[in-house]
Amino acid sequence: MTEFVDADAVLEPTLQNVLDQTTLKWIFVGGKGGVGKTTCSCSLAVQLAGVRESVLIISTDPAHNLSDAFRQKFSKHPSLVNGFTNLYAMEVDPTPDLSEVEGLEGEQGGFLADISTSIPGIDEAMSFAEVMKQVQSMDYSCIVFDTAPTGHTLRLLQFPTTLEKGLSKLISLKDSFGGMLSGVSRMMGAGGPGGEHMIDQMLGKVEQLKRVVEEVNSQFKNDELTTFVCVCIPEFLSLYETERLIQELAKFEIDSRNIVINQVIFPEEVGSSRLLAARVRMQQKYLDQFYDLYEDFHIVCLPLLEEEVRGPEALRAFSQHLLQPYQAPPAQQQDGAGSAGGGSNSLVEEMRRQVEEQRNRIQELEAELKAAKGS
Ligand SMILES: Nc1ncnc2c1ncn2[C@@H]1O[C@H](COP(=O)(O)OP(=O)(O)O)[C@@H](O)[C@H]1O
Ligand SMILES: [Mg+2]
Repeated sequence: MTEFVDADAVLEPTLQNVLDQTTLKWIFVGGKGGVGKTTCSCSLAVQLAGVRESVLIISTDPAHNLSDAFRQKFSKHPSLVNGFTNLYAMEVDPTPDLSEVEGLEGEQGGFLADISTSIPGIDEAMSFAEVMKQVQSMDYSCIVFDTAPTGHTLRLLQFPTTLEKGLSKLISLKDSFGGMLSGVSRMMGAGGPGGEHMIDQMLGKVEQLKRVVEEVNSQFKNDELTTFVCVCIPEFLSLYETERLIQELAKFEIDSRNIVINQVIFPEEVGSSRLLAARVRMQQKYLDQFYDLYEDFHIVCLPLLEEEVRGPEALRAFSQHLLQPYQAPPAQQQDGAGSAGGGSNSLVEEMRRQVEEQRNRIQELEAELKAAKGS
């Protein structure tokens, strides 16, 4: 975390720093529910897909909504996002079914599920570890997490401890009941593995998953590999939650240096609405506080749109604002469009223009690349 920054320099109000840091492997996007985490994580993933070889976005939020955001059904396995060649998405089931943990037979999974009631969190830890094992074996350049709301977010960092507890529980079970269990299972006449053998297998499994989680957690604490992007809205509760989140991240030694403030209403767009004018004043108060509190963060403001941000095209357009500070279109540039308030039409026009610009840029770059390859 030793970054030498000119004290006078204001940090760029964009997420360009995340795109530029090509060593990043794990990018978390988190904050309270409803502030726009999914929208922001999807937008960021869309932008990353433009500069990294392959990107996977994983939702660990019980309220899955990658499918809603991209308007495409995803599952617990990565699938290619429509309209992309290198962006994949998957939604992890937050209520794990341990009988599905790979390497354990159904019966054992069930047994583990039973003992898990006596070790709080072990089921979640196991299923997270299983996902991470799977993800690590895949070859994505970077992985974006659309995380569960604050509070649950960092529980995963305690998973090695949870698994440690699970291991000692299993060992003590084995010591006290091992012989008896094999007797019982013989009595049940299943002809399956004896109780002791079963516990041994599970010990091995939990041990292996614990190693995965430990390895992953040490990567999470490496700021070359991992960063956490906080998403919030300019309101009191959200400011408060963000501060808590940032403190928690620091405690767990996880790098965070970007705050995305979503749903910002820009004064240019108030028009004659008294309600909007009041909202702008309220938001401004909290924006000022964000700027005061987080001088050493990149603070990125995203505009509140009139419509939801859904579908790949809407996300692509919206994602532009992560890189270019949003400028509410000034009235005089509206060439007779006459919308001094900058309503949704001018906004859509502006987005279209930006999309067009990016498309042209991509075409130019592709032509350059082709020429470079040819020469
Ligand atoms: N800046 C915005 N302007 C308009 N709608 C937005 C904006 N950001 C998010 N939304 C919409 O708000 C809803 C909640 O956003 P979402 O990203 O799913 O929040 P979260 O994941 O934090 O619960 C979605 O329908 C989304 O399209
Ligand atoms: Mg969400």
